[in-house]
Amino acid sequence: MAFKTNKGATAQSDAEVTSRVEALLSQMSLAEKIGQLTQLGVAEFVPGQKPEEVIRRGGAGSVLWLNNTKRFNELQKVAVEESPSKIPLLFALDVIHGYRTVFPVPLAMAASWDPAVTERSQTVAAREARAAGLHWTFAPMLDIARDARWGRIVEGAGEDPYLGAAMAAAQVRGFQGKQLGASDRVVACAKHFAGYGASDGGRDYDPVYLSESQLRNVYFPPFEAAVKAGVGTFMSAYMDLNDVPASGNRWLLRDILRGEWGFQGFVVSDAFAVGNLVMQGHARDGRDAAFRALSAGLDMDMASNTYADHLTGLVEEGSIPTEIIDASVRTILAIKVRMGLFENPYTDEGLLAEVVALPEHRQESRFAAQRSMVLLRNEGHLLPLSKTLKQVAVIGTLADSKTATEGSWMVFGHVPAAVTVLEGIRAKLSNATVEYAPGPEIQRDIASWFDSFGGDPKKEPQTVEDSEAAFQAALVAARRAELVIMVLGEHANMSGEAASRASLDLPGRQEELLKAVVALGKPVVLVLLNGRPLSINWAAQNVPAILEAWEPGTEGGHAVADILFGDAVPGGKLPVAFPRSGSHMPLYYSRNLTHSPEGSPMYNPRYWDGLPTPLYPFGYGLSYTTFSITNLNISAPQVKVGDVLTVTADVTNTGTVAGDEVVQLYIHQRAGSDSRPMRLLKGFERVTLQPGETKTITFQLGPSELGYWSTNVGQWLQDAEAFDLWVGSDSLATLHAEFAVVR
Ligand code: BGC
Repeated sequence: MAFKTNKGATAQSDAEVTSRVEALLSQMSLAEKIGQLTQLGVAEFVPGQKPEEVIRRGGAGSVLWLNNTKRFNELQKVAVEESPSKIPLLFALDVIHGYRTVFPVPLAMAASWDPAVTERSQTVAAREARAAGLHWTFAPMLDIARDARWGRIVEGAGEDPYLGAAMAAAQVRGFQGKQLGASDRVVACAKHFAGYGASDGGRDYDPVYLSESQLRNVYFPPFEAAVKAGVGTFMSAYMDLNDVPASGNRWLLRDILRGEWGFQGFVVSDAFAVGNLVMQGHARDGRDAAFRALSAGLDMDMASNTYADHLTGLVEEGSIPTEIIDASVRTILAIKVRMGLFENPYTDEGLLAEVVALPEHRQESRFAAQRSMVLLRNEGHLLPLSKTLKQVAVIGTLADSKTATEGSWMVFGHVPAAVTVLEGIRAKLSNATVEYAPGPEIQRDIASWFDSFGGDPKKEPQTVEDSEAAFQAALVAARRAELVIMVLGEHANMSGEAASRASLDLPGRQEELLKAVVALGKPVVLVLLNGRPLSINWAAQNVPAILEAWEPGTEGGHAVADILFGDAVPGGKLPVAFPRSGSHMPLYYSRNLTHSPEGSPMYNPRYWDGLPTPLYPFGYGLSYTTFSITNLNISAPQVKVGDVLTVTADVTNTGTVAGDEVVQLYIHQRAGSDSRPMRLLKGFERVTLQPGETKTITFQLGPSELGYWSTNVGQWLQDAEAFDLWVGSDSLATLHAEFAVVR
């Protein structure tokens, strides 16, 4: 079959889009309209699918979990030539951090504190995904996560709403471009609305209890930023939010999202979530579930077929007015019209290979990985290493794992192709002997259902004898080496969906091996590959150099080697605190003060069995150079409610190599209608400075930075109160000033 290539849409005014949508709507039967609200899961794990049949009768508006350009074209042909109103399908998939060229996981991208590089990464992801025939990605994931036990922390931007909002907008711009319709972009989906990251105990899917103030001040800002950036779609979350499932939550989906924020796109459920309202103890049966979800404002049913099975009956009996159906269908058709799918429904099957071969894709991925890495420790300037080393040992089962390097959430059918850390080091040290010893294997105690979709082939657990032999072999390699690079952390399937854990320690025998290697007295560098903060207390005291490399993607191994050997200088900062223990979760810097401040002699410390403070605070990260931040200036000692205050500070590279600093601004409102957090990030900028160079950074504090949603008053407000302000290189910044907001 010869298909037209996927061209973009020609620009269309809102009026043109509306009139095309209305023309379509007026010719559609009720069954076809309900079809548009139905997303078909075309995958082996959804039994009994006959996609052609369903599509031919106009029974599907979108298809997900399929990842095959030829099949896209075949199914699209049925939709646009054989279905009653010939409406094209939207093909959707989770393209979270890259399609073929894999980028660092979203938590790592947030560690770059660089919205521009984040935007470019998602531009590349969109270009490849669209070339494969996809129109719609289920990203960005915008859930604030303050409990690192929650496995999905890897998919988001960490603990902070301000950083999260910046990363949200950047990702939407990257995926969608300036406006929907470009031939090399996709529609984005802000998910999971809302509060998913605050599940009880960090256990995935468990209920969430959050006050309106927490939701509005902490959990909503990234979602609102996505709406402002023009995101086309939203996905509702699975879990109960304050006892109402997010997928049947009218307050979230109608009052906040559409009513307050003016969102014009459509909302899709999470997978099977409409049907699962029954399982969740909210809906009586499928019919009740369809009624509750659609009435609450959920437009498209992902894969549960509950809308398809029950909406006709509900309309016919008069429980659901056709206007509600029409309103949902309009939002979906409008996206299809804006995307230009009616004019260009097909994808050229040769396009993907050309697009993936573009050299800048890999270059962007390597650059993004370098930008995202965080130097946690570097005693005695052990890093950067010399390229004249002759005998190096690389140790750790993750060091040569392509899956661990690419991280969680690979698109269906993707074959991991990353440069591993071992390969990256070998490429850098072509004249040295680089000996590799994996050491004991690590694995989850309880396997994951998601493992069946990719990753490493399933293996029997290593026997005690084999584990011990691998342990000893690693020590032999370490003894022979001048320097040891330990690559430890978590496998890709240890974070992500359904991948929560109670402990945040290094899994398996990794710390035991680390201790044994350090005891040999050789210089040791620890490279961490992981998708969440880990409690690496022993390493933080005893290993001189620690690089947090996250799950760095296709070019990850090269990027790690670039940093280790000084071809790139680390400049990332933690987007989430590293705790001393998993049982300290949730832990976040922007806590409220208390009547008994931590560290005061009165009363007791927060725990009597150790410090509750983070091992590494939010915003923390070192460089190969040093910086000083001085000359903090505020445009006026007072600012009127509603006005803008300008803050400047100078940052100087005081070391001998060029490097990046992320200058961060935090505020604290001393009193007010509600208690306010002891610190809140309200500005940041990542700058590159040559040795001796100084730059002046300018921040603006206006009503959106100085206001908040008050529980006491029940609305957004700005108090006329005194504020503290700090500018520095992490959330413990000490350079201080004060100002007041006045009426
Ligand atoms: C996840 C979503 C994802 C969806 C579709 C669900 O299990 O929670 O994040 O987009 O599946 O694959």
